[in-house]
Amino acid sequence: MRILITGGAGFIGHYLATYLTTLGHDVTCLDNLSRASKDAVDILRNNGIELIVSDVTDFNSLSAAVGLVRPDVIVHAAALISVEESLEKPKEYFEVNFMGTLNVVRAMERFNVSRIIYVSSAAVYGNPVKLPINEDHPTNPRSPYGLSKLFGEGVVKLFSQLNNFEHIILRLFNVYGPRQKLTHYSGVIVKFVHNVMNDLPLTIYGDGEQTRDFIHVIDVCRAVELSLTTKHFNEIYNVGSGVPTSIKELANMVQSIKKSKAGIVYEPPRAGDILHSYADISKATKLLGFRPSINIVDGIKELLKLR
Ligand SMILES: NC(=O)c1ccc[n+]([C@@H]2O[C@H](COP(=O)([O-])OP(=O)(O)OC[C@H]3O[C@@H](n4cnc5c(N)ncnc54)[C@H](O)[C@@H]3O)[C@@H](O)[C@H]2O)c1
Repeated sequence: MRILITGGAGFIGHYLATYLTTLGHDVTCLDNLSRASKDAVDILRNNGIELIVSDVTDFNSLSAAVGLVRPDVIVHAAALISVEESLEKPKEYFEVNFMGTLNVVRAMERFNVSRIIYVSSAAVYGNPVKLPINEDHPTNPRSPYGLSKLFGEGVVKLFSQLNNFEHIILRLFNVYGPRQKLTHYSGVIVKFVHNVMNDLPLTIYGDGEQTRDFIHVIDVCRAVELSLTTKHFNEIYNVGSGVPTSIKELANMVQSIKKSKAGIVYEPPRAGDILHSYADISKATKLLGFRPSINIVDGIKELLKLR
């Protein structure tokens, strides 16, 4: 199958590209390199995967790339991804995540691309009103990031009906794995692993009892693989582990695996932080055959061994 991955030089994108190439697919990546890591670009190059430098907000350039590749499926993962940053720069988030997605579906129409897998986020749910969160849970995003991803979903669904292409929306929970970049906006696992490797204390905001659903990037690749051919398209699927892990549990896990004695620093809770979040993945299990294969303890051990 010929596959175009937008955001293909990002954390999830470059894993997807190598994973799908190994399965025998003909993969091309598209990325504007604004948030790509050198590691990811090198890995694409070393695996002979073509990378087109293009911006999803530039319709002409994007459309030319789609016309060149003529993919059977587009996996649309290009996005700006930080909740915190989106509060500072909402306009940029809507431009890339919403208008960028509109450009992708318009380019699909022009070249008759038959399927899109839209990489969405659990951020569309906002503060859960019931747990675990299933796909029918109300959407009530609490950040420009979450809203921009939800608008992206809306665009994908609408144009899928208007132009008769197939879509699958994957709402990812907290994705982690090797080669995730450490920045000011990084997720908790990247920060904890970095601190423990440098013998620094871990910072927990609030009492640490808040829970999250961590899913390994390889399991995300598996969900995308299943989405390429599923007959259950035009559906939304949660992609998580289905298992809640508290931040305190995670901190203890990371420190005990590394035998760190640096301790934990408790800071006041951050405004807007969600208390509990974990996925009901029964729909993805039933219709896609999705079963996460890497538990959090093994995933963390892998990270600590690699760094
Ligand atoms: N990482 C997570 O925990 C997580 C959770 C839920 C959903 N997601 C979704 O997964 C997708 C990939 O996230 P990631 O963690 O790999 O992030 P990432 O920042 O590593 O990758 C995103 C890629 O998109 C590229 N990009 C940004 N703006 C672009 C533009 N205008 N044109 C072309 N390329 C552009 C960046 O350069 C980057 O390489 C995103 O759609 C995100 O919303 C991620």
